[in-house]
Amino acid sequence: MNQQRKLLKNLTPDYLHDTNKSFDLPSSICFRVTRYCNAHCNFCLAPPDGAHPDVETLIRRLDWLLLHGVETIHFCGGEPTIHPGLPVLLEHVNAKGGKIKLTTNGITLSDELLKILHATGSQVKVSLHGNREHHDAIVGRKAFEHTTCNIGRLVRAGVRTSVQTTVVAGAQEVVEWVAGFCLETKVRRLSIMPFIPRGNGLTRREDYELSSIQRRSLRELVAKKRRAFTGRLDLRWLDFSASPLLVAKADGRVILESSTEARDILIYQIP
Ligand SMILES: C[S@@+](CC[C@H](N)C(=O)[O-])C[C@H]1O[C@@H](n2cnc3c(N)ncnc32)[C@H](O)[C@@H]1O
Ligand code: SF4
Repeated sequence: MNQQRKLLKNLTPDYLHDTNKSFDLPSSICFRVTRYCNAHCNFCLAPPDGAHPDVETLIRRLDWLLLHGVETIHFCGGEPTIHPGLPVLLEHVNAKGGKIKLTTNGITLSDELLKILHATGSQVKVSLHGNREHHDAIVGRKAFEHTTCNIGRLVRAGVRTSVQTTVVAGAQEVVEWVAGFCLETKVRRLSIMPFIPRGNGLTRREDYELSSIQRRSLRELVAKKRRAFTGRLDLRWLDFSASPLLVAKADGRVILESSTEARDILIYQIP
């Protein structure tokens, strides 16, 4: 976070247009592999927009980021697992000494990808939003079976696996359910994210946005459960609106993203 503050402070129009500038990027970046997806979440903050770069382009961008101070590449999207080049990208980052994180809806997970995730010591976050009925309603297709089965495969394969849950208005009870699922499945970390009005989420904010009272109550619930699960489950509150996130978009722009697109800051267009 201090690094992000430093970056924000350094940003001037000259800085943005100086192509020789030696960048000092934060150590971790969210890297959007594609904006294609195999699900249809109504609230999606990064919905399909046609961007689906080829492997060569993505490797060039990864090299640029690693050269400019990034140490951890957090692969996300769209849905990263549907990009056929993902295994090659993971191996490339690993060979260059980068650390790897991956956020996925967990609908597909090939044996090849599972093996590489393990071999590269990657950390995987799987998005699971509640029980079968609620999860499938949120992701807009039958996905619960695939996702929960793949969480089990990741855990059994020894991949560092956590669960991430987006909570929308009126669905606070999912915290209890997902925490129970994690304990049963031997997942040791669960991150709870309140809905933010980005992307498609902006048009659905009336349905999904938590009021300030609901948000406070959710935060208190997470704090209470965190204490109750100490030693068994690392329950975390993850709020995009609290601190901006550095993102390399699928079109090559590097953006400091906040809870709404209006507050985003363009850092650079990777050459
Ligand atoms: C944009 S998705 C990309 C990775 C992958 N497709 C997935 O769903 O896990 C990354 C995370 O953001 C969450 N998310 C998407 N839209 C959101 C929104 N409007 N508010 C809060 N979280 C959101 C998803 O549930 C997921 O956990
Ligand atoms: S949140 Fe993830 S799974 Fe859902 S539509 Fe967006 S990219 Fe796809």
